[in-house]
Amino acid sequence: MEINVITLFPQMVQQTLSYGVIGKAIESGVLKLNCFNPRDFAENKHGRVDDKPFGGGAGMVMMYDPLLRTLEHIATRGQTGSVVFLSPQGGKLEQRQCNDWANMAQITLVCGRYEGVDQRFIDQHVDIEISIGDYVISGGEMAACVVIDAVARQLQGVLGSEESAETDSFMNGMLGYPQYTRSELLGQSGVPPVLLSGHHEAIQKWRDAQSLEITKRRRPDLLEGTSES
Ligand SMILES: C[S@@+](CC[C@H](N)C(=O)[O-])C[C@H]1O[C@@H](n2cnc3c(N)ncnc32)[C@H](O)[C@@H]1O
Repeated sequence: MEINVITLFPQMVQQTLSYGVIGKAIESGVLKLNCFNPRDFAENKHGRVDDKPFGGGAGMVMMYDPLLRTLEHIATRGQTGSVVFLSPQGGKLEQRQCNDWANMAQITLVCGRYEGVDQRFIDQHVDIEISIGDYVISGGEMAACVVIDAVARQLQGVLGSEESAETDSFMNGMLGYPQYTRSELLGQSGVPPVLLSGHHEAIQKWRDAQSLEITKRRRPDLLEGTSES
């Protein structure tokens, strides 16, 4: 899969994603990460990518032209796929959406900075706006990294064992079950005996029940419309 990122800080994205399983996915070519800096496509007199907002007010706004030229450049190399603008005003990022993107050949993520992006670019060239939560961060780069990590985990061969994504929270519509590792006894605190039984069916049953119980308690909204609600 190919993910294009339009960002004023390409290194921030490349470095953040250079660790662990995602770093390996990029190294091995399972995930092709291409970053494009709109500064390289600014044709105005001073190579500017931002300007003051019409109507006044604080801060700067990312200009339409350098963003469009960046997008056009990506299109000349191949396809852009869905164009996703990271924005606190977008729909909340969900696992389902990440799984869908993982089935695409490519997507293009647009990272805003400053006060945001000229609305005309969003209206004319963005397919979907996505938020990582109800708070504002200083730029779309960290949000893009969240999206890329969540998508890349779903690509075949990225995780050591296919199992580890399947049992993650949200993959089957519920939260995950609790995990334990050595030591068996931490002071007074032991491990649920079933996990030490070696009885795979009983362990699975216990994990399923835990998953359901935790979901009912913490996120009953996930069960709405299912037979468990
Ligand atoms: C300082 S923010 C601009 C916020 C904008 N003035 C607003 O109120 O909606 C700069 C950029 O950070 C990114 N950003 C901020 N919060 C985000 C969030 N919760 N999810 C995704 N991207 C976010 C967006 O790309 C945004 O254009």
